[in-house]
Amino acid sequence: MGDEFARAGVRGDSQKGLSRRRLLQIAGAAGGGMVLGVGTRDILEASAATQSRRDASADAVPFFGQHQAGITTPSQQALWFGSFDSTAETATELADLLGIWTAAAAELTAGRPLTHRDRSPKNDSGDAVGLGPARLTLTFGFGPGLFEHDGVDRYKLRQRRPAALVELPPFRNDALEPERTGGDLCVQACADDPQVAFHALRMLTELGRGAVVLRWSQQGFRSSPAPGSTPRNLLGFKDGTNNLNASNERQMASNVWVGHEGPHWIRAGTYMVVRRIRLRLNHWDAESVEEQERTFGRRKHSGAPLGERDEFDPADPSKLPPHCHIILANPRASGSEQERILRRGYSFADGVDPGSGELDAGLFFVGYQRDPRRQFIPIQSRLAQNDLLNEYTLHTASAIFAIPPGTQNGCTLGQRLIS
Ligand code: HEM
Repeated sequence: MGDEFARAGVRGDSQKGLSRRRLLQIAGAAGGGMVLGVGTRDILEASAATQSRRDASADAVPFFGQHQAGITTPSQQALWFGSFDSTAETATELADLLGIWTAAAAELTAGRPLTHRDRSPKNDSGDAVGLGPARLTLTFGFGPGLFEHDGVDRYKLRQRRPAALVELPPFRNDALEPERTGGDLCVQACADDPQVAFHALRMLTELGRGAVVLRWSQQGFRSSPAPGSTPRNLLGFKDGTNNLNASNERQMASNVWVGHEGPHWIRAGTYMVVRRIRLRLNHWDAESVEEQERTFGRRKHSGAPLGERDEFDPADPSKLPPHCHIILANPRASGSEQERILRRGYSFADGVDPGSGELDAGLFFVGYQRDPRRQFIPIQSRLAQNDLLNEYTLHTASAIFAIPPGTQNGCTLGQRLIS
């Protein structure tokens, strides 16, 4: 690799960072140095230029920008989510990993296999060849363990941890599985083709070998109803009716994007909370439609709030059961507007639960917000106490991540944090 090796890493100091041996391991995992061989900066610059030309292509979502894609991007049909433990020994190793991931993400989201200039099939697993970008987005996040792990400040980041990146408190009725909870870094891969999303997560996992280990992952899917109509969840209800409007910049600025209250590196970023929520479908299906509607506070067929006619009519709390889902999730009282989060969840179906013999299926809840301390946590605290829906749900996995802003101008992901 010679000189090219020396050019790897946007800071030009990669030889001080990941050891040569480890970089070679990572490059080898990528299949012979695709990303490293041509230099991360070259890839970033080439990709940014190519991507701006490709923006016209309907199925490519630009990777570069002020905010990361995959947050306000209209939801794609499939999700592969990965949560990683960091095994990097130094902050420089971590920075190099993020450089490699940035370059790879630019390629993958443009629909290019990770062979780039050397088209040898060994460089890419090949399972997404010919599938196009499929609106792939890759959204990266940093968990609390990156800033402090078992009391150890591994990467000298403790001082840079935003106050809003708290550990989530235990909630009533949590049934979290430790092996599916937490994580130091995450990647949310969403695409209209599940194989494109899976391929991206697979490649990023391979590229990260030696610096990160995949801790847990989750697949997800969404229905694609007629344009303009709200998708239904596995309980048969329209889900997303009173979500924040991702194309409303004012709402995003007030409720989703971090502003001056956060440290410099996270501004224009956000916080992601994920919860894997199993649904007791047998129990639900045995209920009457009236009982199901009381549980949510909405009509099953139309999605209208109880006591109203149409889906988007405002709900009147006086006409709703006090412990129904929508009134606990949004009491419509003073301060409720500030609490609202951008929900971007996916249904999942993971075979059979060995304990109950029932389908292990449900909702992989993904929520984006400006401050989980005044958004997700108070909402979930109320839901966990009293939501009528609790009879049918079990929270089995959970994690929180700080989502840095988007990358632009030849920078890498999280460069403002880890530099
Ligand atoms: C399996 C679990 C869940 C299911 C099946 C579910 C389903 C629904 C449905 C059908 C609605 C009504 C339509 C809509 O406005 O989108 C809704 C509303 C909502 N849900 Fe959930 N949800 C679940 C868990 C959660 C969790 C964990 C949170 C947050 C902590 C949450 C927060 C909200 C919010 C904020 C609303 C909007 C309330 C409003 O403003 O009217 N949900 N959910």
